[in-house]
Amino acid sequence: MHGVVFTKLKQFVEETFDSDTWSAILKEAGHEDEMFVPIKIYPDETLGQVAAAAVKLSGIARDDLLRAFGSFLAPHLMEMYGALIPADWRTESLLMNVEETIHRVVRMKNPGAEPPKLEFTRLGSGHLQLDYRSERRMSALAHGIMLGVAEHYGEHVDIRESEISGGVRMLIRISNRAAIAS
Ligand code: HEM
Repeated sequence: MHGVVFTKLKQFVEETFDSDTWSAILKEAGHEDEMFVPIKIYPDETLGQVAAAAVKLSGIARDDLLRAFGSFLAPHLMEMYGALIPADWRTESLLMNVEETIHRVVRMKNPGAEPPKLEFTRLGSGHLQLDYRSERRMSALAHGIMLGVAEHYGEHVDIRESEISGGVRMLIRISNRAAIAS
C-alpha cells in the first residue's frame, strides 16, 4: 500500500485524537517508532495491523474508522494528483474517471501500488453504481473518499450499499448542497 495512505492516516489520528494515540497504535500494531514515508510502498499486512490496532484502541468500528479516514484522505489525494483533475470536473465526472484516469496513473507511476478495481456505471444524471472488489475489503474507505470528494465540490452523495459476490455494490445519488438547503 502506497506510503501516502500511512502518512495521511498518521495525520488523521493525530488531528482526531493526538500524537500519543498514534504512538500507541504503532506499538500495538508491532511497528513501534516506524516512520512512514510517502514515497515507499508498504506491505498490505502493515496497513491491516495498523488498522486493527486503531480499531482496538479507539473502540470505533473498522468501517466507521475507514469511512471517516476516507473522507479526510480525499482532498489530500485530489491535491497530490491535481494535475490529473481538470478544473471543470465535479463529483460525477471525477468518479466516472477515477479508474481509467487516476488509479491507472497511480499503478503506472508506483510499481507495487494496487488501487482497487472500481467499476462505475452511470445509471442517469447524478445516479451512479459502483461495484467494489478488492482483497483488502476496504469498501468503507471508498465510501468515505466519495463523501470527501463531494464535500470538496460543495455537493452531497447519498450511498446505499449491498453485498455482491466478492465485494460491495454502492448506489450513489449526487445532489447539489444548495438545492438540499433550499
Ligand atoms: C483524486 C482521486 C484519487 C486518487 C489520487 C487516488 C489514489 C489512490 C492511491 C495512491 C491509493 C493507494 C493504492 C495502493 O497503494 O495500492 C488508492 C487506494 C484506494 N482508492 Fe483511490 N484515489 C482517488 C480516488 C478514489 C475514489 C473516488 C475512490 C472510491 C470511489 C477510491 C477508492 C480507493 C480505495 C478503496 C483504495 C484502497 C485500496 C483497496 O481498497 O484495495 N479512490 N487510491
